[in-house]
Amino acid sequence: MTHLSDMDSDDVQRFVDEAEGRLFSKEIIEEARNPHNMARLEDFDGKGVEEGLCGDSMEFYIKVDSGKISRASFFTDGCGPTIACGSRLTRYVKGSSIAKAQEFSPSSLEKLLGGLPDDHRHCAALAVASLRKAIRDYLNRQRQDPTANTVKSSCFHVENEVKK
Ligand code: FES
Repeated sequence: MTHLSDMDSDDVQRFVDEAEGRLFSKEIIEEARNPHNMARLEDFDGKGVEEGLCGDSMEFYIKVDSGKISRASFFTDGCGPTIACGSRLTRYVKGSSIAKAQEFSPSSLEKLLGGLPDDHRHCAALAVASLRKAIRDYLNRQRQDPTANTVKSSCFHVENEVKK
């Protein structure tokens, strides 16, 4: 049997790739290696922070325009599958309505990623929980500032407040 110490760096990489490929779908590996939208946002309309059962956490940020998520971003100190979950989730919710994003479930995220091993299913739950908290934060801010999502319109010389 070949030991890792006997392998050169290409062999080690091939070994790691094969081991990963047995455990995770190609979607997870691709998303974890090349994550999208992984950054903390300074300028956001909603922010959610969730800590998972394993002790890892995820921050989720959304920008909202006319009731739709115009930008989504995440940050995590978690595992590779969690990075994949955050990345895929930002890509899924971008452009979707708040209502649609609110209904998105961990099992739907798992499906988008070609499934998760049992011991990593909580990574999808962590990502979705942080998104839901970001949405709740956005909605709370809207309630505190009722003019935040309205614009004044003037039709027939009558001023109205209408929802954006
Ligand atoms: Fe902790 Fe994935 S979030 S193992």
